[in-house]
Amino acid sequence: MPIQLAEDMKAVIASARLCFAATVSPDGRPNLSPKGTIRVWDDGHLFFLDIASPGTRRNLRHNPWIELNVVDQLSRRGYRFLGRATLHEDDEVYRTASRRVFDEGGAEFPVTAVVRVEVERALPIVSPGYSRVRDEWQMRELWRGRRVVLEEEFETHLRAHGPWSENPR
Ligand SMILES: Cc1cc2nc3c(=O)[nH]c(=O)nc-3n(C[C@H](O)[C@H](O)[C@H](O)COP(=O)(O)O)c2cc1C
Repeated sequence: MPIQLAEDMKAVIASARLCFAATVSPDGRPNLSPKGTIRVWDDGHLFFLDIASPGTRRNLRHNPWIELNVVDQLSRRGYRFLGRATLHEDDEVYRTASRRVFDEGGAEFPVTAVVRVEVERALPIVSPGYSRVRDEWQMRELWRGRRVVLEEEFETHLRAHGPWSENPR
């Protein structure tokens, strides 16, 4: 039976728009990769689109267990979701989930499968930095400022070394 996803969990997922998905390979090795198409399916299920995730897909065919970590960048807190995944190709879940993400993002991608996760356990993950701030508002204010500085530093790096390119010259 899936757990009931709380409103705060749904809000963090909507805000973060990114999770890290951990699976286990057939020879027992960890596999972790980001998925920006993470969304809430219903009160007990999450999903993401497999657009470029051959490793995750291969592992799930062997072992359906998956953990998803979602963290809000400014609030520095989020959730870890544990559950079992089902892979959907060319069925109603595939069509509904793909359409939702395409409509929200305004772009379409070739989707190999929709990975839908029945959430069995959801635990909060909170930065130890909370011991140094008054509350979540102060944490957000702190990181809003830090982000500006970090983005500037990274863009200085890009200007010096050139931006990433799929086809480097
Ligand atoms: C920010 C970000 C978001 C991504 N979102 C997705 C996604 O939603 N679906 C997907 O299939 N790949 C996504 N990717 C690409 C995969 O993470 C990448 O292809 C990875 O190597 C797949 O590893 P795997 O085959 O072990 O799953 C994303 C990558 C980044 C950096």
